[in-house]
Amino acid sequence: MDYTTIAMVVSIFFLSFNLLIKSHIGLAKKKSHNLPPGPKPIPIFGNIFGLGKKPHRTFTNLTKIYGPLMRVKLGSVTTIVVSSASIAKEMFLKNDQALSSRTIPDSVRACDHSKFSYAWIPISPKWRNLKKISVIQLLSNKRLDDSQELRQAMIKQLLAYVQNCCIKMQSINIGKAAFTTTLNLLSNTLFSMELASYESSSSQELKDLVWNIMLEMGRPNYADFFPILAYIDPFGVRRRMASCYSKLLDLYKEIINERQKIRSTNHQLDAKPTNDILDILLNLHQENELSMDDLLHLLVDIFDAGTDTTANILEWAMTELIKNQNIMDKVQIEIEEALGRDHSNIQESDISKLPYLQAIIKETFRLHPPTAYLLPRKANSDVELCGYTVPKNSQVLVSLWAIGRDPNIWKDPEVFSPERFLDSDIDFKGQNFELLPFGAGRRICPGISLSYRMLSLMMANLLCNYNWKLEDGMHPNDLDLDEKYGMTLQKANPLQIIPTPRNN
Ligand code: HEM
Ligand SMILES: *[C@@H]1O[C@H](CO)[C@@H](O)[C@H](O)[C@H]1NC(C)=O
Repeated sequence: MDYTTIAMVVSIFFLSFNLLIKSHIGLAKKKSHNLPPGPKPIPIFGNIFGLGKKPHRTFTNLTKIYGPLMRVKLGSVTTIVVSSASIAKEMFLKNDQALSSRTIPDSVRACDHSKFSYAWIPISPKWRNLKKISVIQLLSNKRLDDSQELRQAMIKQLLAYVQNCCIKMQSINIGKAAFTTTLNLLSNTLFSMELASYESSSSQELKDLVWNIMLEMGRPNYADFFPILAYIDPFGVRRRMASCYSKLLDLYKEIINERQKIRSTNHQLDAKPTNDILDILLNLHQENELSMDDLLHLLVDIFDAGTDTTANILEWAMTELIKNQNIMDKVQIEIEEALGRDHSNIQESDISKLPYLQAIIKETFRLHPPTAYLLPRKANSDVELCGYTVPKNSQVLVSLWAIGRDPNIWKDPEVFSPERFLDSDIDFKGQNFELLPFGAGRRICPGISLSYRMLSLMMANLLCNYNWKLEDGMHPNDLDLDEKYGMTLQKANPLQIIPTPRNN
């Protein structure tokens, strides 16, 4: 037997023992709970064998039997799945406080990330401080307006790369290209420097690290279903994450050291400081508002949370546009009419002139939410929800997948139709519970505005400067919409498309 098998056997032995004891003392207590309905769990493993490769689809099917508030048991973790807008509304309006913690995947415990991270720590004075700093100091519209030029330069680079492929008639993995661009948009907004390149030969360190972190986090990990296994780290997920995190932290430390040097010399010469997000963070650190550990782990969070999600939604949007050529034509015409023939310099302030592009982005979020279940929430106490009890410490997942395809809310839910958003007030800022790609309540994503700017800017530029087609011999009808389950729902087969010149 190899190490993993031995580990599994030993742990299952302990688990069974644990379970036996619990079932003896727990029976009377359980009866008082009015748990939501759900499939019958088998001992120890609960319902994990029924999940399949695409749990978001399996759960959506199960709601037809058990309804939109469902209980499943993932190993030893009681999980409540919310699959309708009205239950999500009650959850966020009435119970947000009680459901504001997160269940923590074992992988993010590596390097103690979960102890410092804005995204994973429970609501606490430290979390409030990180939230305040992020929302007011780092990611506010005023601040983002100030850093626009830094992002413009990165869009120019993306267009230069696309132009090069256009001349060579080479196809582009558009998800990968968007990933690189988003990394550079973020690193330029934060550090005034670019850290990733489109060509594979040059330094790819940050890109590979962020990519690998997302891969590891997305891997199903038995340590999450059976917390007792976490001690052994059965598949080495935490070990690999630790290696990624520590390299990433070292990279940030290096960048910070360089900046500290510049700051001290600038100070002497009385020169103008760079004043990007890193400078703001270092100022806060000097004023004792932010420890160095908090600062470093915040940077980890921003790159993790911002890159894959943004790149992912762009790939899906382009996929839907290739499949629906009439929608592609319509948005290209909209951009041309709104911004004129010379669209070499589209600004973030131009986005508001492009309602159809905005509708396309919303429609893509509806059908292809980057996170199928938000990030996992956890009940701090027993919570009453729609007449049922969500027991203390259970995991709560909001199925954006099910809500986005709910026929009670959306007409022809499977059809990609941006028009449905044209004369509607539905937005994705956490007020309309039928569309929650960024979550809602206290823990809503602080990066909405930045990711929306990056996304719209990339799309508007790609669409008005080029026409896009599939590789030779492929017809849009052959294009599949299959997704791969993970931390984000990626397209299973990456979209490869060829740019052709648009205006001649
Ligand atoms: C299309 C892009 C993005 C999507 C779909 C997205 C989605 C989400 C979702 C669903 C959550 C959990 C909300 C909840 O639990 O209610 C979240 C949290 C978070 N996001 Fe985003 N996000 C995106 C981009 C970004 C960007 C660009 C940043 C940073 C600049 C960012 C930083 C964060 C952070 C720090 C959290 C944790 C907040 C907390 O736990 O209190 N995200 N995001
Ligand atoms: C869900 O149900 C549909 C139609 O009933 C079926 O085609 C599909 O395979 C099911 N998916 C999963 C993952 O169970």
